[in-house]
Amino acid sequence: MRILIFSLLCIVLSPLLIAGVIIYTWRVRRISVRQNISGTANEPLGGRLGMHVAGTRIDEAAYRLAGHLPSYTKLSRFLLLDVLGFASKISGFKGGFFAYPGERPSKLMSMMSHRTDFFDRSIRDSLSRNENSPKQFVVLGAGYDTRCYDLDLPKDLDIQCFEVDMAPTLNAKRKALELAGIPHDHVIFVETDFNQGTWMETLLASGFNPNLTTYILWEGVTMYLVEKAVRDTLSLVSTLPRGSAVGVDFFSEDMLKGNGPYEKMSKAMHRAIRYYSESLIFGVPTGEQLSAGVESLARDSGLTLSRFEHTGSKEDKLPPWYFFAHIDNL
Ligand SMILES: C[S@@+](CC[C@H](N)C(=O)[O-])C[C@H]1O[C@@H](n2cnc3c(N)ncnc32)[C@H](O)[C@@H]1O
Repeated sequence: MRILIFSLLCIVLSPLLIAGVIIYTWRVRRISVRQNISGTANEPLGGRLGMHVAGTRIDEAAYRLAGHLPSYTKLSRFLLLDVLGFASKISGFKGGFFAYPGERPSKLMSMMSHRTDFFDRSIRDSLSRNENSPKQFVVLGAGYDTRCYDLDLPKDLDIQCFEVDMAPTLNAKRKALELAGIPHDHVIFVETDFNQGTWMETLLASGFNPNLTTYILWEGVTMYLVEKAVRDTLSLVSTLPRGSAVGVDFFSEDMLKGNGPYEKMSKAMHRAIRYYSESLIFGVPTGEQLSAGVESLARDSGLTLSRFEHTGSKEDKLPPWYFFAHIDNL
């Protein structure tokens, strides 16, 4: 019934939604992509904004940021997000991409909720532990992530935040943070390209201390990197003090290559990412337990896979192809 009322409201409000979609897609193609600002960074942001406007996961910083990004203006934020949030609140429909923490097994629509919930737990459990809690929080491929700005952490937690990404995306974000009046002095922004062998030196030069226990959030990034960059990054984690950890997600190699039942889906995914002038490059092999490839990647760098979840279920027509991992340096 709720989904029916929600759908009816969306039909009535469709002129506003369509105008929002047109402005948004025009800005992504004509402004973001042309200036080499990540277009894919808008996808997870959109997911978190959906949860925010539905009231299932509050992310005030993301909402304020979205009024000033190359992809959004306050007008398109209103036409798309506020209108959808209004329909969700009036109808009471908070499922699909509005859900948080969302259903399990998660489906295509609730994939982003599952992912967000997994990383929220991974970060919270690491940063709020009493013993040997991380002193540095590094967001690799930060995009429009806002964990550094509204993470609910113990007040006395003394932690240095770093956000790492390529220069055009970081500059657009910094500008939006300023325009939105979001305090960001506690964050060090590090401009670099993970596919270049020297990116870790840039991080070190920016003040990153390799002798401090560190939590690294690496969400929604590995699929855009070459395998060497993925392995090098895990090797970096293994050089950090014991207690350091990385929260990271991977696509399956089969989905990426379009093997077996993933043929159509893989084509659609590659096409969707090409829309942003970006490409999907890396996926992990899975094995019978699905976690075998991630476990072996972690082990190769002397790390331990401590928590593993996946979207979907093994019984689905399309078996799981998206994996979330919490990897520890024990
Ligand atoms: C899909 S977005 C994810 C953003 C953010 N982690 C989140 O979950 O909201 C991928 C991000 O990785 C960054 N990225 C992709 N390839 C990169 C590379 N080679 N070096 C640095 N950053 C990269 C993009 O600029 C983009 O911000």
